Amino acid sequence: MCGIVGAVAERNITAILVEGLKRLEYRGYDSAGVAVYTNDEKLERLRRPGKVSELEQALVESSLVGRLGIAHTRWATHGAPCERNAHPHFSGDLAVVHNGIIENHEALRAQLTGLGYVFTSDTDTEVIAHLLNHKLKDLRDLTVALKATVKELHGAYGLSVISAQQPDRLVAARSGSPLVIGLGLGENFLASDQLALRQVTDRFMYLEEGDIAEIRRDSVQIWDVTGQAVERQTVQYSDGAEAADKGEFRHYMLKEIHEQPSVVQRTLEGRLSQNQVLVQAFGPQAAELFAKVRNVQIVACGTSYHAGMVARYWLEELAGIPCQVEVASEFRYRKVVVQPDTLFVTISQSGETADTLAALRNAKELGFLASLAICNVGISSLVRESDLTLLTQAGREIGVASTKAFTTQLVGLLLLTLSLGQVRGTLAAGVEATLVEELRRLPTRLGEALAMDATVEKIAELFAEKNHTLFLGRGAQFPVAMEGALKLKEISYIHAEAYPAGELKHGPLALVDNDMPVVTVAPNNELLEKLKSNLQEVRARGGELIVFADEKAGMTNGEGTHVVQMPHIHDILSPILYTIPLQLLSYYVAVLKGTDVDQPRNLAKSVTVE
Ligand code: G6P
Repeated sequence: MCGIVGAVAERNITAILVEGLKRLEYRGYDSAGVAVYTNDEKLERLRRPGKVSELEQALVESSLVGRLGIAHTRWATHGAPCERNAHPHFSGDLAVVHNGIIENHEALRAQLTGLGYVFTSDTDTEVIAHLLNHKLKDLRDLTVALKATVKELHGAYGLSVISAQQPDRLVAARSGSPLVIGLGLGENFLASDQLALRQVTDRFMYLEEGDIAEIRRDSVQIWDVTGQAVERQTVQYSDGAEAADKGEFRHYMLKEIHEQPSVVQRTLEGRLSQNQVLVQAFGPQAAELFAKVRNVQIVACGTSYHAGMVARYWLEELAGIPCQVEVASEFRYRKVVVQPDTLFVTISQSGETADTLAALRNAKELGFLASLAICNVGISSLVRESDLTLLTQAGREIGVASTKAFTTQLVGLLLLTLSLGQVRGTLAAGVEATLVEELRRLPTRLGEALAMDATVEKIAELFAEKNHTLFLGRGAQFPVAMEGALKLKEISYIHAEAYPAGELKHGPLALVDNDMPVVTVAPNNELLEKLKSNLQEVRARGGELIVFADEKAGMTNGEGTHVVQMPHIHDILSPILYTIPLQLLSYYVAVLKGTDVDQPRNLAKSVTVE
């Protein structure tokens, strides 16, 4: 979490730092700060609680300028989001910004307090500043002192430091939290994500785990975890694909919802033959490995976990492969029994989620057959560390509430299901050809669902004054209901819970009255009749029903029952289609409630801490 930007140049760098922070706000946005070595040779900082725009305003008024600086946007872990806890943290004449968590910060704090250092924040980061300051007294060189300092840090960090003693450089260290160097002409930059630096360069060098870097205006030196000087490859980007603007849309979330037909199309491109899935889309060894798979274990967090839950229905129903799905934060700390020949699958938009990454690293010790990452970021740690990869092609997702990443993950997981079934010969006759055909039609169906925008906007009015909602689904639509409830709570702050419809009478029915709308995602299969009985149970208690149902399911409006007719679609693909109106519903409810749709309170796009 949190975002880092740094710059060493011949020109004033404050505007570059602030622009970089704005581009990183998706990582955290509860406070922000900048430290600059000023043109009158002093280290100065400005920090503000709240969004980067608050800091920007303060900078305009302060006229802080300089050619060396670091900046940070924070998502609080240790210490409340306030100015005192905002980064950069100072010790003497050095400044530190840090992403991650220093686990031994209490012991270090006690030790440094004993040495006379005075702490002015509640953060774990401040120990890094004082420890480095302490080491610098003997070692005198900032880079050498940083190397000595990181040896005493336990936990995760991506960090950067500047010092008024050696204002010719930025130094940085990576362990568990990504950092990338942006290469300019006579100037160089650093950030936790290259997106922050696309404004100034298209050439990047990614630090690897354990790397320490010394970045000057005209040189970059890197040492690996063993202390050896190393060269890291330079990557050059030529496309403008990172352009991040809302276009005609009021919010990124709405724009991203509307991008789904095209990104699903892109995710399918080059992965389907006439009537089959191309298994090599998962990597050159995929066919050989898939032939051995007898079980699948899926691990993910948040929305990606819900994608995994849908996949479980597909893998068992279509490919006949037993599948388990678990949230990464549980999986990583549990004693797991691994069945022979189990494929370990992670799902992640960012590829940097700390729990998912840790689960993958643990899995490597547990005897899984192989690991597969379904991920949206090709240069992420998760992709780098997995045996096989399927990249979703959602493009950059800026809205914190995940939308297009989810539907492209579902497409990826259906491709996986069909590939496993194909290679192992477990698919029923004709199923693959039918579903390949249906997948081809999916972008059009998604467009039809988006055309229901105005209908859903109207329905959203039913929720504006409500505080609680229930989401119901059966079969593979149950995880869709979970995702719908997550979206609503994330951005409208309305309490929303999802239940398998059959569980209603085992508890949640007690909550149902006319103040508790019940959203239902109806299956168009043999479970439909059962669901209809569940809905009667709600109506009998005065609960207002909003039902998303196939236009061919024969469900109609009635007293207290609002039926939204969905375009007809093959039952297997319905979880992907029905996600769309639920995304729109949460979006319009949030707009009505006036919440911050793209950056909801207390959340962050990429959770790179535990
Ligand atoms: C955060 C985001 C969610 C996301 C989850 C997992 O909680 O706010 O939208 O689903 O992390 O992220 P990942 O990048 O691993 O999919």
